[in-house]
Amino acid sequence: MLKIENLKVNYGGIEAVKGISFEVPDKSIVTLIGANGAGKSTTLRSIVGLVKPSAGSSITLDGEELIGLDTTQVVSKGIALVPEGRHVFPDMTVLENIKIGAYLRNDSLEDDINWVYSLFPRLKERSWQLSGTLSGGEQQMLAVARALMSHPRILMMDEPSLGLAPLIVKDLFSIIKEINKKGVTVLLIEQNANMALHTADIGYVLETGRITLSGAGKELLADESVKAAYLGKKKN
Ligand SMILES: Nc1ncnc2c1ncn2[C@@H]1O[C@H](COP(=O)(O)OP(=O)(O)O)[C@@H](O)[C@H]1O
Ligand SMILES: [Mg+2]
Repeated sequence: MLKIENLKVNYGGIEAVKGISFEVPDKSIVTLIGANGAGKSTTLRSIVGLVKPSAGSSITLDGEELIGLDTTQVVSKGIALVPEGRHVFPDMTVLENIKIGAYLRNDSLEDDINWVYSLFPRLKERSWQLSGTLSGGEQQMLAVARALMSHPRILMMDEPSLGLAPLIVKDLFSIIKEINKKGVTVLLIEQNANMALHTADIGYVLETGRITLSGAGKELLADESVKAAYLGKKKN
């Protein structure tokens, strides 16, 4: 299991993450929801070694400390990040983008390519198309497919629903569930609290760098303060 303890991150003098602790049990879907600027991306970037947490922070995978490892080392431990904004290579084909996700592997990719094509049939249809010509939804699917090619134990996604039409978001979240059913642990960062909490086993609410609430996804959906702040429903 992935365990975050007392994670603190400073940018210059600003403390973006103020000592948060949470756990991602194996095979679960965990979500961290919060408004813009809450510290969600900073948390994910800390896990994959893209930002350096303050002293006293700890991020362990099965008890092994990850802080101090570089991103390639973290990926090789089985953690993959689908970054915010997708970042597919626009001048490369769909298939080339998918293969890039396997850059740390030297075994046969065929079964995995078939698997991601079965999850995302539209990518299969478009396998020779330049990725820059895909729709936003298709690019998001491609970013997920690419991440899966590293064979992650834990798939982390930074706001996958951002900018996508509601129907596409629904599709995407049902595919996330399917990926999880295959045994991949999922850590999902979202402003779309409604979809995220419907999908996740466990949710955490992040507010200006602090976790203010946690519980089962369904519990948080029913929580009055979550409804008021994140689900666009008034307290009664
Ligand atoms: N590279 C950076 N340099 C300085 N401040 C940053 C940087 N990245 C993020 N921040 C600040 O840290 C806080 C948390 O940002 P972020 O983790 O991106 O939040 P979220 O992903 O929840 O929107 C914000 O106040 C943001 O402005
Ligand atoms: Mg963010």
